[in-house]
Amino acid sequence: MVRPYIKSISYYVPDNIVTNDDLSKIMDTSDEWIISHTGIKQRYFVNEGENNSDIATKAAKIAMEKAEVTADEIDLIILATTSADYVGFPSTACLVQDKLGAKNAGAYDLGAACTGFVFGVETAANFIKSGNYKNILVIGSEVLSRTMDMTDRNTAVLFGDGAGAAIITANEDKESKSEIIYSFLRSMGSGADSLKRPAGGTTNPFVPGVTDPKDLYIYMNGRQVYNFAVKAVTDTILKLMEKNNLTMDSIKYIIPHQANIRILEAAAGRTSIPIEKFYINIENFANTSAATIPIALTEVVEKKLIQRGDNILTVGFGGGLTFGGNYIKW
Ligand code: UT7
Repeated sequence: MVRPYIKSISYYVPDNIVTNDDLSKIMDTSDEWIISHTGIKQRYFVNEGENNSDIATKAAKIAMEKAEVTADEIDLIILATTSADYVGFPSTACLVQDKLGAKNAGAYDLGAACTGFVFGVETAANFIKSGNYKNILVIGSEVLSRTMDMTDRNTAVLFGDGAGAAIITANEDKESKSEIIYSFLRSMGSGADSLKRPAGGTTNPFVPGVTDPKDLYIYMNGRQVYNFAVKAVTDTILKLMEKNNLTMDSIKYIIPHQANIRILEAAAGRTSIPIEKFYINIENFANTSAATIPIALTEVVEKKLIQRGDNILTVGFGGGLTFGGNYIKW
């Protein structure tokens, strides 16, 4: 049986740091409100002329270097995003494929919002298990700064830009390493209206002079999404534990999507898992949607917080609505 594993993990963020104080100069908000309600202190925004495919390519190049995989050796590129370079097509994955020169790869975007990397990891794992693919590049990349209404304090303080990338490949060694063992993927389309970009798609196409420009930006019913998120994180952790006979003590780290520190504190309380087991970096990056989990996982690896053989869970939730997680034996 072919065993898929994460050969490398990396991230890239633009060099433009935007603090809460920077935002309070352009909208009616404050550092105190943002920190106390979300845990966010700063985020990164792309610079002018810098696009999703640019930061995704940078994250991918680092992952390829770490894994010692060349562009020619990549068979497939799966790019999870909600903030593609273009509406609909071409996919951002195709633009990244060109920028990398990955001429032997198929490439496509995956739309599962903030759960996109979790879905992408499981998708790649199954391509590897098919035996027909060897090296798969999974990317979560977002330029949310260009999808937010910067006059809407309800959303504009919450999101940031960034990209994370993993090379997922087949383990041909005897010993186990960073193996993707099991994933739990769920969707709840009945909640679609609580988090969306109302216009610009074919339901409500952009019509000059008719479309309210605000409808082109992210709309979120924060309270509804918050309640969904606490339950999604709780259910995902419990399901991954149950299906894999994991006890609380046997889990080294949970790598969660980071939308609000209070969601994670509430989920920790409900699952009786100490909050210290949740890796939290929301203060530095804010919510980078599909990029959040690979960014956090890279930090966990680089800080040497996990060792070979440790059990880790990823947990994502977001637009769609979607939620789920991966169980990885590192
Ligand atoms: O990754 C996608 C998934 N997204 C999420 O999981 C987000 C889930 N939702 C949340 O994290 C929270 O609901 C928010 C952070 C979005 C909002 O936090 P909250 O504690 O639920 O605040 P609220 O919406 O109840 O607003 C409380 C007050 C309101 O003022 P009034 O009506 O009480 O006078 C808001 O107008 O805070 C006000 N407010 C702000 N004040 C200063 C809302 N945003 C801001 C702001 N600065 N940025």
